[in-house]
Amino acid sequence: MCNCLVCGNKVEHVISFGDMPIANGFLPEDMFEKEKFYPLDVGFCPTCSMVQLTKLVDKEDMFNENYAYFASTSRRMVEHFKKFAYWVMETYLSEDPFVVEIGSNDGIMLQNYAKENIKHVGVEPSENVAQAAREKGINTLSCFFDKENAQKIKAEYGEADVIAGTNVMCHLPYIRSVFDGVTSLLKPQGVLIFEDPYVGDIVRRTSYDQIYDEHAFYFSVSSVSYLAGMHGLEVIDALPQNVHGGSMRYILARKGARDVSDRVREIMANEEKQGLKQLSTYQAFAANVAQNKEDLLTLLKRLKAEGKRIVGYGATSKSTTVLNYCGIGPEYIEFISDTTPIKQGKYTPGMHIPVKPYEAFVSDYPEYALLFAWNHGEEIIANETAFKDAGGKFILYVDQVRVDE
Ligand code: TYD
Ligand code: ZN
Repeated sequence: MCNCLVCGNKVEHVISFGDMPIANGFLPEDMFEKEKFYPLDVGFCPTCSMVQLTKLVDKEDMFNENYAYFASTSRRMVEHFKKFAYWVMETYLSEDPFVVEIGSNDGIMLQNYAKENIKHVGVEPSENVAQAAREKGINTLSCFFDKENAQKIKAEYGEADVIAGTNVMCHLPYIRSVFDGVTSLLKPQGVLIFEDPYVGDIVRRTSYDQIYDEHAFYFSVSSVSYLAGMHGLEVIDALPQNVHGGSMRYILARKGARDVSDRVREIMANEEKQGLKQLSTYQAFAANVAQNKEDLLTLLKRLKAEGKRIVGYGATSKSTTVLNYCGIGPEYIEFISDTTPIKQGKYTPGMHIPVKPYEAFVSDYPEYALLFAWNHGEEIIANETAFKDAGGKFILYVDQVRVDE
């Protein structure tokens, strides 16, 4: 049993995945012996509805100079952030604009503000990624965003029109301190905008691979509303996003400062209907996860028995959960192809499948490609016509296990 990271009440156990390595901890062979493992357990808080990890990994073990995630590797995500940035500029900036981004990564979003000469600060704890942003001319601090650092930013730059964060808020178990920082840094009419994988999609699609050490929270509009209320904020809008397999964008303002969209009430009513505020929904999800594992192993075993070659496509953080939970190693997956240079030549966390450059996939097409980067599935499948023409097939496991014919 443990206490909710948001409201402090008792959290109910939902699912244990067993001991997991660091999800983004791609490693060379000489580090295998030093690899650390942590239990991956999920719980649900019946008081505030927040789904969350109940055992946490030290943040320094996750976000450090070896952090291998560079957001700008996907063209579709670059486009997504550009649209996001211009929408924010048109909708929420005052005459003297100042934008703060939490987890600004390699500057994928802030580069749009830098281009428009808008005052901005990115907060990015992974030094190697922050450096990549600075090289693009983006003002970036290497630290974690919390109450103390928010006050420092305010002292140096003034109050913010917008504090934004994508795929980062769910990474911050000390979210109460983050929200304290947000409320002290925002202008009276300022807004906090963040987007993260949506628990409604995770449950609906059995996309359990979204669950890994970095994702401490699996938000819904209901749980975010509770959290907002604890800090004098409210959700004024919620916009579903078709990225990362289903995300939600939340817009929060000081209570009463701005109109609340009807969408907020509608989505919360849908969440009630989907059962996102009930433990039994997550228990049913846990059963679907176990079934998905069985189905995937059955398929892979059959294909191997038929002598087929299977390669992984996209060495995602998400794949770490699937590979380790299902016990899928190099005996099933020959290697994983990935376009990120710093992952290439390394091995996947825990199961130690080699990661190779994309060229290794193209130069000798396997019969099957297990699509770990399924959140970019449309983009990838549309591009891989040569693989298909050569008789190659994709294996998918989200929604359900199947071969894409
Ligand atoms: P990402 O979508 O960020 O997932 P996660 O958050 O789970 O790590 O990662 C996508 C990975 O897939 C990244 O390592 C780059 C790789 N990739 C390819 O190799 N080829 C592609 O065409 C795309 C879109 C991604
Ligand atoms: Zn709670």
